[in-house]
Amino acid sequence: MYPIDLLSPSHLFTNVLSVLNSVQLLSRKEAPGAQPTPADFEVNLQSNTGFLPEKPIPRLPEAYSPWEDALTRAQKVLVLGENLTVQDTESRADGELWRSQMRGLPVISINDLKTDKQLLRRAHKVLAFLVHFYVHSIPPDQNAGSVLIPRSLATPLLQVSDVLRMAPVLTFADTVLWNWDLINPELPVTIENMHFGVELFSGTEDERNFWFGNAKVELLGVEMLHLFNEYHSLPNVSDFASVCKINRLLTRLVAIVDRVEETLTSMRDLVDPSTFYWQVRPWFNGNASGPSSPTWVFEDGPDASTLDLSGPSAGQSSVMHALDIFLDIDFKLQQRRHPAPSESNKRSDLGFMERMRRYMPGAHRDYLSHLANTTRPLRDLAKSTPAVKESYNAAVSAVRKFRDSHIRIACLYVVSMARSTAIPVGCPVFAMMQRMERQQKQTGRSTGTGGNELSLLLKSNRDATARAAVKV
Ligand code: HEM
Repeated sequence: MYPIDLLSPSHLFTNVLSVLNSVQLLSRKEAPGAQPTPADFEVNLQSNTGFLPEKPIPRLPEAYSPWEDALTRAQKVLVLGENLTVQDTESRADGELWRSQMRGLPVISINDLKTDKQLLRRAHKVLAFLVHFYVHSIPPDQNAGSVLIPRSLATPLLQVSDVLRMAPVLTFADTVLWNWDLINPELPVTIENMHFGVELFSGTEDERNFWFGNAKVELLGVEMLHLFNEYHSLPNVSDFASVCKINRLLTRLVAIVDRVEETLTSMRDLVDPSTFYWQVRPWFNGNASGPSSPTWVFEDGPDASTLDLSGPSAGQSSVMHALDIFLDIDFKLQQRRHPAPSESNKRSDLGFMERMRRYMPGAHRDYLSHLANTTRPLRDLAKSTPAVKESYNAAVSAVRKFRDSHIRIACLYVVSMARSTAIPVGCPVFAMMQRMERQQKQTGRSTGTGGNELSLLLKSNRDATARAAVKV
């Protein structure tokens, strides 16, 4: 059941009239050629997991147990370096021992992983977690402005990332797409039978719920992917039946985006803002993510400034990018649309969304390019087809509403927390005071994980979404 039925008796008459108009307006006749399927891009529609694999593997083969064991140990003993005071001698010693073990590990060849995508994904996740554990467990008084990531972690992470064609850093794929297992392996893959946040930094339920919320969106998004596929598989977009079908697809899309928005809003009950901001989020930071954040140096690797190293973000969710592409949202403000972008829109990081794609596995990025290069752009169709305008605009409006809610959430979890001077419960007071002081020395602006000016970016993306609406 969908909330709005455009084929209900009240809409039928107007629809029939405008469809007849549209059919005359549309000159292009299309026949779908031999198209690649979503499966060619590692998009699993048959198993209904979408960008999630059908099933992740729980552990790498024996030869890679030094990495796996190090990750298990890290999750047991390491704490955020920023939270350590000089008195925390035991935690400091545990951290130093773990890091020296990492420095002492050999560089293990990735040759035995190369032929299996599942192994490569697991390796990327394990190594990226290890690198973030390594960097962020160092107390700030010990990092001297830069951190040397040992070759035992740096070399294989760079190599695995190269094969997967993705950034050599913790990504949305590592923390959401590949960070789950089945509760009961005998039962089918359904959200009820999935356990998310298998690997965590802080070990808090807040962190797990943060990834769980994002994973729920990914799984809801699978229905969107089916829908995009249905649209692109239509034999044509100009006859009466097709136009009616497109309206039904868009009505379904609105319902899905509404559920995405509800999922986002429901995260307020599951993730405590203060825990998220002080105990979870710092682990995600990438290279030089703020004035007091250390520069990464990959031992034997290229200069970190030449690599994509900003850390995970839901801005890397391929489902959300696919939705934006389907509706033709112009984040770079290249198209002439109404209303014209504001001055602050123009000052925002217009390349952010495109950059985020470099953090996705290459195959998913290819899927997005494929979607973007369609010969059947939906917005153009909506512009030229009166009967589609309203339902297209309803979909745009649902995504704008999602982005409005998202701005409120980001404000609550990041902007307000950055301004807050209250010491969070459970954090050592002295360490917190030092962290707040360091934060105040920063630019005074709240930045995203990727170091972007947060409100400008999110508002500009919300406005770009609204601007996609077509004139009725
Ligand atoms: C407590 C929950 C959340 C918080 C605090 C949050 C925070 C943020 C922040 C700070 C950014 C800026 C870029 C960055 O630093 O990564 C961002 C970007 C983004 N987030 Fe979230 N987010 C949350 C949940 C979600 C969920 C569930 C989704 C759905 C997939 C989502 C989708 C996005 C997208 C698509 C962007 C890119 C910017 C845009 O499209 O406007 N976020 N988020």
